[in-house]
Amino acid sequence: MPAALIDRHGRTHRSLRISIVDKCDLRCTYCMPEDQHFLRREELMTRQEIATIARLFVGRYGITKIRITGGEPLVRPDAVDIVRDIAALPVKLGLTTNALSLHKHLDGLISAGLKGVNISLDTFDAERFRTISRRDGFNQVHANILLALQKGLRVKVNMVVMRGVNDDELLRFVELTREHPIHVRFIEFMPFAGNHWGRDCVYTYAEMLGHIGSVHSFEKLSDDPHSTAKAYRVPGWPGTFAVIGTVTEPFCGNCDRLRLTAEGKMRNCLFSREETDLLSALRRGEDIAPLIEANVLAKHAMLGGLPQFKPEKEEEVPHDLSERPMVSIGG
Ligand code: 5AD
Ligand code: SF4
Repeated sequence: MPAALIDRHGRTHRSLRISIVDKCDLRCTYCMPEDQHFLRREELMTRQEIATIARLFVGRYGITKIRITGGEPLVRPDAVDIVRDIAALPVKLGLTTNALSLHKHLDGLISAGLKGVNISLDTFDAERFRTISRRDGFNQVHANILLALQKGLRVKVNMVVMRGVNDDELLRFVELTREHPIHVRFIEFMPFAGNHWGRDCVYTYAEMLGHIGSVHSFEKLSDDPHSTAKAYRVPGWPGTFAVIGTVTEPFCGNCDRLRLTAEGKMRNCLFSREETDLLSALRRGEDIAPLIEANVLAKHAMLGGLPQFKPEKEEEVPHDLSERPMVSIGG
């Protein structure tokens, strides 16, 4: 039996997100600062190093879920090989992508063993897409969502909802769940380094449900105990929608997630201000197991130790967050 990774609050960790590159072929305003600079190739974990670290997490610590993220994982030339390496481990494997180049890699990913993708899409308007992502790409991303479905992948679509930017499109995204067996996830806009977050830009979980409920009657679905998303569906429709209310309704209580950045730094929370450099230790030939255990043990009870956002309390806004933008943490 593998040992378990248990933090000082007694929570067992079974899920790992691995960012394999910090670059992206889009530059979403909520994720990447304009002046973002990227890691050099030699600073990134190699395919072999990723496999070594992943095997340790799975074999020694009983991690059962791995999600590959970026930046945009598919900008890395060996992304499909990395997916194949991880798919060979006894884990549930996922990939988060902006889907801009998904058509080029889809067959490779499926034969590598991938069963599902989480695709980021924030709008159905091509012009707005360009404003949010600072690049063109709506038509390609939209086509690739349909292609992924056609090829039998389980598809989740992640929409970051920002007040005054795309909050008028919620119902269009709910329509997706009528048209297709797609799982839409509405994500509250979270504050990260350089993303111009403001409390007024958060379109809250409660507002989202109110907005959708003014048009559709929907029912609650049961959630996995470690799920960050609260799932719903319009009865009879093939897809589902869910809300990820990180800001107004944090779900830290039974969080079982760990993260590894593209340069091999371990984080026990999205909002951590501390990280553990596993890659440098691995390259020096050291045993990284004690580093992993210490990192998990130190995990804060919630939000990486930051105060919770309360819509009514001005002073509690956690906008100093981590020094990293999301693109370099891993979405
Ligand atoms: N707020 C909420 N979600 C974010 N993501 C990136 N930045 C933010 C943010 N500021 C998430 C989105 C995207 C994934 C790559 O990361 O869900 O789909
Ligand atoms: Fe790229 Fe995704 Fe970040 Fe947008 S949200 S810049 S697509 S990593």
